[in-house]
Amino acid sequence: MNDFITLSDLPDFKQTLDLAMDFKKNPYKLSSLGKGKTLGLLFFNPSLRTRLSTQKAAQNLGLSTMVMNFSQESWALEFEDGTKMSGLRSEHVREAAAVVSQYCDMIAIRAFASLSDKVKDEAEVVLRSFAKYASVPIINMESSTAHPLQALADAITLNEFKTSHKPKIVLTWAPHPKALPHAVGNSFTRMVGNLDVDFIIAHPKGYALNPEITKGVKCLTNQDEALDGADFVYTKNWCSYEHYGQILRTDDKWMITSEKMELTNNGKFMHCLPVRRNIVATDSVLNSNNSLVINQSENRIYSAQAVLKQLL
Ligand code: CP
Repeated sequence: MNDFITLSDLPDFKQTLDLAMDFKKNPYKLSSLGKGKTLGLLFFNPSLRTRLSTQKAAQNLGLSTMVMNFSQESWALEFEDGTKMSGLRSEHVREAAAVVSQYCDMIAIRAFASLSDKVKDEAEVVLRSFAKYASVPIINMESSTAHPLQALADAITLNEFKTSHKPKIVLTWAPHPKALPHAVGNSFTRMVGNLDVDFIIAHPKGYALNPEITKGVKCLTNQDEALDGADFVYTKNWCSYEHYGQILRTDDKWMITSEKMELTNNGKFMHCLPVRRNIVATDSVLNSNNSLVINQSENRIYSAQAVLKQLL
């Protein structure tokens, strides 16, 4: 594996999942593997879990870390080639990526979608430019279209809490006041394709994810029908893909409540966090014993550790 930009970069999904589960049992078993090496973490957007869990994973492997809030602390980057840089952008990614490669043995990057230009977002300009001009591996800490470290952590959580051979998993859209990207929903859908599960996506009309990603997946616009008998309810908002970047509805009909969870098979509630309480899901759902949101966050350490180990 040269870079970890999507789940398909993993040499073997199942082996990676086993490795992550193994690290959870014994986090320090390779505590000298990264000795003398440095992981750089560049954030173009905010983070709590990704920032801390990836650093923790690096520490468990003996790696040093350097963290930079790139959008606030560094020079504004130019990504276009051949431009006359007379505006606000002071440094080209060609130099920036090459320079960071002198200090770091791996570079992890968070760069969200603009949600204003679908073509540019899908080209993953920030990650792909760093991958092109850096001389060290690039790791995706959530890009425009993918959040593979989250999806791998979610796979660990599903594995830990499943009670049947082939559980029913529902990925359901939920409301949110801001336009959010598709990265989590996309990567969760891709990840579930590696599991033996019964998978349904539920979303209101106008909120279908990228059809290339949901090809072959059962999608419903009736949330109650989708939740019927579910073992896991993975809840997430995303903006419209078809009407790119737009919020089409703000009512709370799709918010996850205890009454909706009663439709499930004593289902577990999942969300990648951060979550807006009483907008996406009610307090009663988030506070219930069936909520796995903190378990998911813990597993971010071991998903990152499994990826870093393979890149090392
Ligand atoms: N789930 C997740 O990626 O959380 P952060 O945005 O806080 O990193």
